[in-house]
Amino acid sequence: MKTLLVTGGAGFIGGNFVLEAVARGDRVVNLDKLTYAGNLDTLAAVRGHANHVFVQGDIGDRALCARLLAEHAVDAVVNFAAESHVDRSIDGPAAFIETNVAGTLALLEAARDYWKALPLARQDGFRFLHVSTDEVYGSLGPVGRFTETTPYAPNSPYSASKAASDHLVRAFHHTWGLPVLTTNCSNNYGPYQFPEKLIPLTLQKALHGEPLPVYGDGRNVRDWLYVGDHCAAIRRVLEAGRVGETYNVGGDAERENLHVVRTICALLDARRPPADGRPRESLIRFVKDRPGHDRRYAIDAGKIRRELGWTPAVGFEEGIGRTVDWYLDHQPWVARVLDGSYRLERIGQGAEVGA
Ligand code: NAD
Ligand code: TYD
Repeated sequence: MKTLLVTGGAGFIGGNFVLEAVARGDRVVNLDKLTYAGNLDTLAAVRGHANHVFVQGDIGDRALCARLLAEHAVDAVVNFAAESHVDRSIDGPAAFIETNVAGTLALLEAARDYWKALPLARQDGFRFLHVSTDEVYGSLGPVGRFTETTPYAPNSPYSASKAASDHLVRAFHHTWGLPVLTTNCSNNYGPYQFPEKLIPLTLQKALHGEPLPVYGDGRNVRDWLYVGDHCAAIRRVLEAGRVGETYNVGGDAERENLHVVRTICALLDARRPPADGRPRESLIRFVKDRPGHDRRYAIDAGKIRRELGWTPAVGFEEGIGRTVDWYLDHQPWVARVLDGSYRLERIGQGAEVGA
């Protein structure tokens, strides 16, 4: 059994990761600030579980991070905590610098000091895994894919802040020898995603007959990966990744946004025929483009496949169907996000509970 300090474990990907890690028998100390994106409802299945300790707090609080590492004798840190939405980073970049850059720095400093003080045998096994994005590589034209050696060229405040955090992680390895690993993953989708991102937003609006905003011409391409496959990749890198290396993670599932939106509409039409008989596709509205909107992302996941044997298990058609079904089956989860009641169960700052 390993003890993991998971940050951002009340968010979309971190939440999925925590649920799976606890189910597998790991011990998880879950540090999450509970921003608008953090949701304890997601963690209902591990509430009160002996192997899950939830701590409401900030990765930028170095003393708190240091205390949690030492008190729980942590074997590895998995850093999901971040401000994650590009549109929000355009409206207010400062929070992205605070958490993604300064926060990651504080967590790295705490981890380095903790790791240096460990007995040698435990130092060898310690890992700091930083969860990052393919958006650090910038935008692609119609051909080509991002590899681990593609130069960084972030275009949004979000991707710039993630790029900065990736560089800090790298620097802590080169300067102090901290055993780090970085994963750069493409767009995720699946259960528990906050309904501000394309797939859950479209799903929810389409279900309720509301207009579906498609930015620009809808021809931007994202490379979609089912969240469970991302979590499996992270687990694999944690187990067997080469220290100091970065691994690209992607689903080989490039789709134009318009295709994604139409697919969701068709799946919903089949599962919940619209009352007025009009296909939900008729709700699509082309709206003003996002400033600096990256045209295309595509991941070459050859390195993680070759070196660590990871491949995605869930293709896009299967994953999007599962996701539509999950949201239809979990409307109370969505309703509590949309009416704000998911935020009412906050616990005191820094409180530690077996929640
Ligand atoms: P999310 O926004 O759903 O969740 C982020 C979580 O971090 C929330 O629970 C939030 O409360 C918490 N958090 C924010 N600031 C914090 C702070 N200062 N201290 C502690 N906790 C804090 O994000 P997500 O989509 O689950 O993404 C998780 C990670 O994966 C991020 O680092 C993101 O950059 C990366 N990533 C996301 C995608 C994607 O498609 N969603 C793809 C590749 C990489
Ligand atoms: P998003 O889910 O915000 O992820 P990211 O910007 O990190 O890739 O957006 C995915 C794509 O969908 C992106 O090209 C922007 C587009 N998009 C829309 O067309 N309409 C929307 O309402 C949203 C939220 C996104």
